[in-house]
Amino acid sequence: MQQRELGSTGLMFKAIGLGAMPLSIGGRPDAAQAFAVIEAFIAGGGDFIDTANVYCLDDDDIGHNERLIRQALDQLGVTDRVLVATKGGLRRPGGAWVVDGDPDWLRLSCERSLQALQADCIGLYQLHAIDPKVDFRRSLEALVKLKEDGKIRHLGLSNVSPAQLEQALDFTLIASVQNHCNLFDKRDFQNGMIDFCRARHITYIPYSPVGGHHGHVRLAREPSLQRLADQYQASPHRIALAWLLHKGRHILPIPGASKVASIRDSLRATELRLSAEDIAALDRLPDR
Ligand SMILES: NC(=O)c1ccc[n+]([C@@H]2O[C@H](COP(=O)([O-])OP(=O)(O)OC[C@H]3O[C@@H](n4cnc5c(N)ncnc54)[C@H](OP(=O)(O)O)[C@@H]3O)[C@@H](O)[C@H]2O)c1
Repeated sequence: MQQRELGSTGLMFKAIGLGAMPLSIGGRPDAAQAFAVIEAFIAGGGDFIDTANVYCLDDDDIGHNERLIRQALDQLGVTDRVLVATKGGLRRPGGAWVVDGDPDWLRLSCERSLQALQADCIGLYQLHAIDPKVDFRRSLEALVKLKEDGKIRHLGLSNVSPAQLEQALDFTLIASVQNHCNLFDKRDFQNGMIDFCRARHITYIPYSPVGGHHGHVRLAREPSLQRLADQYQASPHRIALAWLLHKGRHILPIPGASKVASIRDSLRATELRLSAEDIAALDRLPDR
């Protein structure tokens, strides 16, 4: 089984995680289907789930995804062997996505996530995004304090540039970076982020790894991907995930799923071995 270490923590996880966002945002499945998705992920050997306090409908629904995951893991009896990585730093007023890196909000968000997850400590807590209205160091200080207080075990960042990551590293240890990355968005390969994470033993977590909530349909229609899918007897989604996995042993993609078939298929990306020639062809696909 292909595995990934979280930063240099010694904690190992299956190389494909579950992006749980589609289970809680607009158009979400009913509770039974959401449970079935998590059950299928666990049955397939999955043990890393990405969530956020704001994977919900709006501010009145904060924590929906975290509660749902905790409940499912309890029912499955696997709470202790699955890392639920959550985030703070956004709000959902009226359903909008608004960045808020104010230290007070981060502290409150973390407390609420601990309640939703029924945990004493969060295994990986990620700053969802940097708030341009707040000094980055103040947001980081709040997170470091939460870590010192034992509420967070490891810290991650999301939606950051290489310069922002370096700034954070001058200040504290960072276990992971979660950024938008897929076959049609190779920015982090081009700007040195992925190489930098490898060199610093930071896990790189590509989000929207098959193109995103809507974009995955377009990705699946890409003719060169369809050709490879035929050749390898796999779905285009699985080819896209396998391409990411081939790019580094520090890369842990988190495909989303609201259907059991999607996550079952994605987990099988760890079994695919793409040829160097096919990887190079995928490298040449232009960004969109
Ligand atoms: N840090 C951030 O700012 C940020 C932003 C966005 C997302 N994320 C995280 O990243 C995760 C993944 O991103 P995402 O959900 O936006 O996009 P994604 O994983 O690229 O695509 C999501 C959709 O693609 C479909 N899909 C995935 N694998 C498939 C497969 N093997 N076969 C067929 N369909 C497949 C699923 O459809 P069905 O729903 O039909 O199953 C799923 O809803 C999120 O769930 C969330 O945890 C983080």
